[in-house]
Amino acid sequence: MSTELAATVKGMMAPGKGILAADESVGTANKRFAALNIPQTEDMRRKYREMLFTAPGFGEYFSGVILYDETIRQSDSHGKPLVKVIEDAGSLPGIKLDTGTFPLALGGPDEKVTEGLDGLAKRVDEYVKMGATFAKWRGVIAIDEGIPTDRCIHANAGALARYAAICQAGGLVPIVEPEVLMDGDHSKHTLETSFAVHERTLGAVFHELARAGVAFEGMVLKPSMVIPGQKSGQTKSAREIAEATLTVLTRWVPAAVGGIAFLSGGQGNEEATLNLNEINLLAKERRAPWTLTFSFGRALQQPAIATWRGDDANVSAAQAELTRRGKLNGLAALGKYAPSMESERDLVGASR
Ligand code: 13P
Repeated sequence: MSTELAATVKGMMAPGKGILAADESVGTANKRFAALNIPQTEDMRRKYREMLFTAPGFGEYFSGVILYDETIRQSDSHGKPLVKVIEDAGSLPGIKLDTGTFPLALGGPDEKVTEGLDGLAKRVDEYVKMGATFAKWRGVIAIDEGIPTDRCIHANAGALARYAAICQAGGLVPIVEPEVLMDGDHSKHTLETSFAVHERTLGAVFHELARAGVAFEGMVLKPSMVIPGQKSGQTKSAREIAEATLTVLTRWVPAAVGGIAFLSGGQGNEEATLNLNEINLLAKERRAPWTLTFSFGRALQQPAIATWRGDDANVSAAQAELTRRGKLNGLAALGKYAPSMESERDLVGASR
């Protein structure tokens, strides 16, 4: 593995920091804007991302940012490329490389496979020239009656492995994201079902990564936590979630993997932080081999966007909301978070 990839992994996994997922496609960003009556224009999406990346202290909490194609080409209101804004804040720019999910041919009902492999090596070259140091590809595994099928798991695992190999060959650290969805409409989607599907998924993903020749040290895994489905009616403690998540990871993820950064997947902001903290506490007890941090999208951005609402007058308050969640999640990545910290308003923007 190149020293370049190793240095990027080390930067991404800096202790007490995590990765901001700000790579919502135009469609997803617009949906979030529409819900808050924010105009759905390219310039508003640019302003929103500029607001996030220029938050005071940004680099103290966020080791990296995942960007969407539109954003990596944009500049701040003074004409400075957003990539440079991120670098100057002491953070690493990354890029989403998949082009979205599509119905899986001959798959089960509603099963999806992620596309974007055609011409990928060329796109990697282009993004490296623009300053990207790492990348992301998300495969989606849904749980419902009769699914996921092995066909769906293997199609997604194969695409993740091809993507990861192409990234490493082109000089980008791949974030490999096999997301087991937690929002299915299925009462049988219990913690136990989620555990079993994570086992099948991670087993297939690492099998394919190994076959594709991917250097585990030069990649980051972005998994979902093992949680009961939102409609299962089951409630589990953070400890039980941490036990299930860490057990599945230690069974199926090689110790050589460069690091683990969880997605939030629709968990509440505080719920995601609490679970990450508990995972880290247990990881210390069990001497887990990896750094376990966050790469949340919604659970980091939600308070910030709800405060901003597209109004310049709210920029500072919204930035404080982002760094507040960054700080709390940074503490959770060290196993040093406590729910009581949520009510300490002077945490906002404060340095550690
Ligand atoms: P969430 O944390 O909102 O699940 O988003 C993370 C992400 O990058 C999904 O691909």
